[in-house]
Amino acid sequence: MKKIAVLTSGGDAPGMNAAVRAVVRKAMYYGIEVYGVYQGYQGLINNNIKKMERGTVGDKIQRGGTFLQSARCPEFKDPEVRKQAIANLNNLGIEGLVVIGGDGSYRGAQRLNEEGIRTIGIPGTIDNDINGTDFTIGFDTALNTIVEAIDKIRDTASSHERTFIVEVMGRDAGDLALWSGLAGGAETVLCPEHRKDVKVIADKIQQGIERGKKHSIIVVAEGVMTGEECGQELKKYINVDTRISVLGHMQRGGSPSGMDRVLASRLGGYAVELLMNDETGLAVGIQNNSLSKTKFEDIFTSVHHLDEKMYELSNELSI
Ligand code: F6P
Repeated sequence: MKKIAVLTSGGDAPGMNAAVRAVVRKAMYYGIEVYGVYQGYQGLINNNIKKMERGTVGDKIQRGGTFLQSARCPEFKDPEVRKQAIANLNNLGIEGLVVIGGDGSYRGAQRLNEEGIRTIGIPGTIDNDINGTDFTIGFDTALNTIVEAIDKIRDTASSHERTFIVEVMGRDAGDLALWSGLAGGAETVLCPEHRKDVKVIADKIQQGIERGKKHSIIVVAEGVMTGEECGQELKKYINVDTRISVLGHMQRGGSPSGMDRVLASRLGGYAVELLMNDETGLAVGIQNNSLSKTKFEDIFTSVHHLDEKMYELSNELSI
């Protein structure tokens, strides 16, 4: 393997830059040329591909977002469109591709693999919703961002004796809601994996008030309902002074945490190692703190699960 390329795709996540850096530096260490594909699959189609040097990834490890930029590219599902992308790679003599992104990005990578391009996926998304890995790059940073926000919200909730509903991202997964709710000491967490009646939440808040509680925090995952909808529902059962806080895209930004930088570096290095060993059609991950690889098709056929013990614990601790 003499030449490889790397791209970031789908929603950006803190730590993507650290992963690109690891791919570039590890490959160069072994004398492999690396090309950066700008703007994800869109850039692959438009031939927005540039040779990278050691310095291209200098001063990037601490930066949020992705300097390669990202795009959602539904047209990549079209085989004719992919032919152009493959031709662009072939013209440059690129034999292997590292795709950093989420589920949708892996599907594109799997198709390219079937069509003859050696491909390795690295899990990059704040949602932590990818099979084959315990953690995705960006999750830890987003979690810390949310916890910091919850702490601040708690200050004002306590000053005004209010109930706050904090809406967090995560698409169809409840990991960000569960982990941040647990770390932020929320009274209730609403996850897509455990939909509960808002009446149950109202009852819990009522019981808290009767015990002398002055404020409460409800964390709702966007995959269940919006914070606004949750507030409307809650109003039907309980009369408390309620405010809604939608954290939105700030959850995707910021300098990556140390954990995300280390994870990104390990996975980036491992992806290159696999390509050097002529392996393809695999997603790398971290499982029980060991590097792991999983075939793309196995990633798609199993369902992402929330940590049930942790969910139970969050209920036990928030009485
Ligand atoms: O997948 C990452 C994510 O931030 C999800 O949590 C969220 O649902 C989605 O992307 C938002 O996408 P967009 O930036 O396209 O609005």
